[in-house]
Amino acid sequence: MPLSDDEEQALVNSAYDVLRRATLSFEGQTVGYAAAVGDGWLSADNYRHCFVRDFVPAALVCLADGDLSTTKGFLRTVLSVISSDCSMASHRIHKGIVPASFHVEQHEDGERLASDFGDRSIGRVAPVDALLWFVILLGIYTRVSGDRTIVEDARCRGQLEAMLRLCLEGSFEIFPTLLVPDGAFMVDRRMGVYGHPLEVQVLLLRMLRTVTVLLGDDADAGADADADEALIATARHRIDALQTYLGAEYWLDAERLSEIYRSDTEQLGRDVFNALNIHPDGIPPWLIDWLPGEGGYFVGNLGPQRIDFRFFSYGNLLAVLFGAASESQASALMQLVDRRWEDLMGVMPMKLCFPALKHGEWQLITGGDPKNRPWCYHNGGHWPMLLWAFVAAALIGGRRDLAERALESAQPSLAHALWPEYYDGRRGQLIGRYANLEQTWSAAGYLWANKLMREPRLLDMFDLQALENAMQR
Ligand code: GLC
Repeated sequence: MPLSDDEEQALVNSAYDVLRRATLSFEGQTVGYAAAVGDGWLSADNYRHCFVRDFVPAALVCLADGDLSTTKGFLRTVLSVISSDCSMASHRIHKGIVPASFHVEQHEDGERLASDFGDRSIGRVAPVDALLWFVILLGIYTRVSGDRTIVEDARCRGQLEAMLRLCLEGSFEIFPTLLVPDGAFMVDRRMGVYGHPLEVQVLLLRMLRTVTVLLGDDADAGADADADEALIATARHRIDALQTYLGAEYWLDAERLSEIYRSDTEQLGRDVFNALNIHPDGIPPWLIDWLPGEGGYFVGNLGPQRIDFRFFSYGNLLAVLFGAASESQASALMQLVDRRWEDLMGVMPMKLCFPALKHGEWQLITGGDPKNRPWCYHNGGHWPMLLWAFVAAALIGGRRDLAERALESAQPSLAHALWPEYYDGRRGQLIGRYANLEQTWSAAGYLWANKLMREPRLLDMFDLQALENAMQR
């Protein structure tokens, strides 16, 4: 049942209230939002930090409201913490690495910023996506505001080049994708997501596209710009390779599944079909009945002899939003969601990953992590923050009806349940056992989704051509 106008307004007010109470200030200026303001069963201290990835939907809301200074304050603050010299344990933190989160400490002599590069987090995870999100958000901010002061600052340009080098650096790899350890992104716990997880690759593609526009080539950037031409050329080359690789190798539909099912293995040489040596017996039984004749999605991970066929929602939705998916792939993805609504959306859209790791597999892969029991948290739990990306992807994929359906399903529970971080259960019917309440990106995700439904033109914020124009003005 759709909400009445009054009920919807109350929900919107309640979400803004969470944002207001989550505000982090430094030296009198707003610089971000704490990840959560309410309590949870196992609430870790760092939920009072501003997480780079969590800030993104909130930034979109601020920008849509015409508030430029919050995002500017955030970007400047992140730049100031990555600029400082850091070392942790036996490692040096490379120039350009962005922390997962930062917070403001109160000391007798004043306020100080402290950040977490994975050296403080539970499980000591490397936040690879923070760098990618930072650049993407800098692009969105520059496009919306037309303000080039951050991007033209020499220190910022130096950091952007360092970030680009880090992502393009030669490693022991031959793929155009980025190799990362387990839990290096939104899924920040052991979940068998090491290697080349989809979400990181989609963010990488968008980050490379953004940074090449922001740094430009010498002619565009002016005489004082020191962007290394060769570096930009390498980035452009990588963009093409990555886009092609994602579209061909990660995309799965009934036709491709049948090709994999019948493919030869042990092929040697350059021009072979099954270059990764994927064994047909590795196709999980659930997939064969689950994948409809129409519809498709990007698989969760790909590497030598490995396709992780799990459906990871965030990576798929961002693939649509950031142009990794073609038009036909975007609409096929929406068809799949429509056909498999109970599995992927349930009562509280949207499930983070499908299916869950079960029984012995769960024990082995998560290390017996009780937060990630089957159909919980990252392991098949439902995350309302995904609504922001779902509504965007549904509108791009021409399925406004699905966006409406998702919002109608989510709305009744959200404010009533105080904006939980996630929901558990096969259909997302239970508030997550260890979920925080008043989780900022749950509230911000809803606000953005709600705005987008009223004003689909807000999608222009992501328009890279418009960013290019803003850089040339
Ligand atoms: C959890 C999530 C992570 C999020 C953080 C703060 O660790 O897995 O994606 O950034 O909470 O909300």
